[in-house]
Amino acid sequence: MRRRPHAIPEPLVSARPFLKWAGGKGQLLPELTRRTPARFLRYHEPFMGGGAFFFSLWSSGRLRHGGVLSDYNRDLIACYQTVRDHAEDLIAKLLEYKAHANDREYFYEVRSWDRQSGFEQRSQVDLAARMIFLNRTCYNGLYRLNKKGKFNAPFGYYKKPLIVDVENMYEVSRALKSVDLRHGDFADVLTYAEPGDFVYFDPPYAPLSPTASFTHYTGRGFGEDQQHRLAGVFRQLAERGCYVMLSNSYTNLTREIYSSDAISGLSAQTVRASRKINCDGAKRGFIDELIACSYDVDRELAVT
Ligand SMILES: C[S@@+](CC[C@H](N)C(=O)[O-])C[C@H]1O[C@@H](n2cnc3c(N)ncnc32)[C@H](O)[C@@H]1O
Repeated sequence: MRRRPHAIPEPLVSARPFLKWAGGKGQLLPELTRRTPARFLRYHEPFMGGGAFFFSLWSSGRLRHGGVLSDYNRDLIACYQTVRDHAEDLIAKLLEYKAHANDREYFYEVRSWDRQSGFEQRSQVDLAARMIFLNRTCYNGLYRLNKKGKFNAPFGYYKKPLIVDVENMYEVSRALKSVDLRHGDFADVLTYAEPGDFVYFDPPYAPLSPTASFTHYTGRGFGEDQQHRLAGVFRQLAERGCYVMLSNSYTNLTREIYSSDAISGLSAQTVRASRKINCDGAKRGFIDELIACSYDVDRELAVT
């Protein structure tokens, strides 16, 4: 009989993101939770990233009808699929990686896999473990690809990086079993969202200044045209009778495209949050963010 490499812990019923992801929603969670409709059918998150809001909703028992989580980053979705389907093997591999958490040379060796032949043929578990190991040990958890599509974030020099929290990883795996995971563009949500579903959009933020753009998650940018295209999808879903919520930076552009003149019935509010990833430490202060909802937040919360 095959022996388990580690004991499987009792369920915690609380899952948290296990990846560091630019734009992670940690600090905005209370604001998003406050605006979550009291009742909804399926839940969809087309810019999944680290999935902070999904894990929070799941942990609070509010996801009763499943839904779809998706992202344009193919490696990210493959990684989530592996956590969902092969948690035990993946955790065993990550526990092996723990011994190399401070090893710069090892980091660059693992990073170089995608420059070697046979990379695509590696197992799903190997690829997901690599992604998590690099994410936890590279600089700022940056997911950055060069022009050839090769991962090129540098070593992070962390003293004690957490490679895997075993209990949380099992909970994450359980949480992911309640939803579909898909790779694709955010507009695909139009093909499956139905009236009464709840859709949360957390796109790459519109830049506060022309040089402040951080859009490296997928190797392609998310410019003004994409922000307009997203507003169009938001409007169509709202007209269909979905509950639509979106967070973004608070800029002239987002103020204009999420005004009640542009989308009827919309409520848009600004909230204060501290920006997480910024190469310039001095700019890590508080900034305003925009949260737009297609529904009357107070009325939907009053539903019993
Ligand atoms: C701000 S992050 C999401 C952060 C996430 N909510 C969290 O808590 O970590 C934006 C995500 O959008 C994805 N993305 C970029 N362009 C996309 C597109 N056209 N369609 C779907 N996802 C896209 C990126 O890969 C990235 O993971």
